[in-house]
Amino acid sequence: MNKIKTTAIFFIISLFLTKTAYVESAEVILSEQIAKGKDLFVNETFAGNGRTCSTCHRLDNNHTIDPKYITQLPDSDPLFIAETNPDLAELERPKLLRQFGLILANVDGFDKPGVLRGVPHLLGLKASITPEEEFEGTVVKHALGWSADGSPNDGSLHQFTVGAITQHFPKTLNRKVGIDFRLPTDDESKALEAYMLSLGRSEELDLDSMFFSSPIVQKGRELFHSKEPGTGQCKGCHLNGGANSSSSLQNGNRDTGVENMPDSPLKLVWKSVPHDGGFGQEKQNECGWFKNQPCYGNYEFNMTTVVEAADTPPFFHNNSVSTIEEAVAFYNSNAFHQSPGANPADPSDPDSVCERCIHLEPTQVTAIALFLRTINAMENIRSSNALELHLEQLTKKERQEQLALAIAETTDAIEVLEGGAIIPNPESVKLLRKALKYEEIALNSRYKIEALKLITQAIAFKSQANDLLLDSSKN
Ligand code: HEC
Ligand code: HEC
Repeated sequence: MNKIKTTAIFFIISLFLTKTAYVESAEVILSEQIAKGKDLFVNETFAGNGRTCSTCHRLDNNHTIDPKYITQLPDSDPLFIAETNPDLAELERPKLLRQFGLILANVDGFDKPGVLRGVPHLLGLKASITPEEEFEGTVVKHALGWSADGSPNDGSLHQFTVGAITQHFPKTLNRKVGIDFRLPTDDESKALEAYMLSLGRSEELDLDSMFFSSPIVQKGRELFHSKEPGTGQCKGCHLNGGANSSSSLQNGNRDTGVENMPDSPLKLVWKSVPHDGGFGQEKQNECGWFKNQPCYGNYEFNMTTVVEAADTPPFFHNNSVSTIEEAVAFYNSNAFHQSPGANPADPSDPDSVCERCIHLEPTQVTAIALFLRTINAMENIRSSNALELHLEQLTKKERQEQLALAIAETTDAIEVLEGGAIIPNPESVKLLRKALKYEEIALNSRYKIEALKLITQAIAFKSQANDLLLDSSKN
């Protein structure tokens, strides 16, 4: 071999090695950042009132919280700080927090009445926070929170931590930096951002090429993922079950009239609950069903991902609907039909029709809901299996923590598949139960080798359960 050739080969090999080392070190840095972010998310109080991010975004509950979960917490939990600390009596509305899982959020500024909102799960953020370029995209970097304007300053995920601490962590309502709480360092915000972006799905589904073994679920998919009249026309705003518009391919805001539903449960409990105006801070005087209330915003809310919906009830920004079936049926309502989201008929043009005045029979509502339950269970299985993949590298304590999270996902898969009462895939539920039993024995096992063996079997059962949900002849 001549010298030039040898040098060239050496050069190529060293290039390859440098590249591999570079890729590996970038991965290592990211995983260290995620681990640091997780620790901050769970433990860091930012010198505030004792709450942490996980006070509301519970790791074993899809990074959200709901009334059922809340009933199991002791009164000493920092979630209830407004009930125990007189300085913070106005931080929350305790009755609404306990009954509906609603949190007070001063999204229109601390000088305006706070609105009451559910805690969003933080799953799949990677695919669902790019705002529509020509609308909210001109104001915020990322579409965050129920109306896309949840983050202060540049409206980015990086800045969200600053907003969350100022809103939820203060020792007094003066909210003075350095006295009532401290702000995150840049490194802390980056680590938290990396952690949050690592949660849930990182990719969108491809619903048009998914075929389900149950004809009910398959019909649900067809009714959901279409824009044709006579279907649910959900695809327009939930492309592939995500949070993006099928036209802009971005995460837009729409006015779908959720605030206008009559007899909203929280309004029955607290008559003068402030009307939530959604995106922006512009004052409006004609809000609500009777158009007689003030509010701030342009009435629009951010489109949400629905793959993760079925196991995170209640639904919509104000937690006003209890079940996934009712959330689907909302699109039959007058509140939706009269909202801009339905493209209602123009009263001045006799030829115009309401383009999206969706009418779904109860059987069709059931089919769409069973479809949403099925894709949610598939995501639970993916997540549960991913959590169990590298357990052997962890310490015993870490392994048990991670396994407990995987068990929460397996449990969710079972709950969503059987929660609709009609169970299109009973064999899948049986396999998931078997997997859960193996996982629970593994969690309590004193022997690492035995635990890992049980987990390998549990992963196989869950994968089998997943395969049975799909039509094997078509996928
Ligand atoms: C007291 C409960 C509570 C605590 C504590 C809390 N959050 Fe939240 N979180 C909420 C609520 C309510 C919303 C919805 C806000 C909105 O609509 O603008 C939210 C929204 C979010 C979102 C937007 C998610 C999306 O899908 O758009 C992110 C990101 C987030 N929180 C991160 C954090 C971080 C980071 C912390 C800790 C520094 C934290 N939260 C602490 C209640 C809480
Ligand atoms: C015009 C756009 C649009 C259409 C069409 C649409 N959605 Fe939505 N969807 C939204 C918006 C915006 C939200 C958030 C509304 C809010 O909280 O106020 C939402 C929220 C939801 C939620 C609640 C998610 C949660 O976690 O609380 C579900 C479930 C849902 N949609 C299902 C559907 C189904 C099923 C269809 C078809 C029958 C559909 N959507 C059609 C825009 C739309």
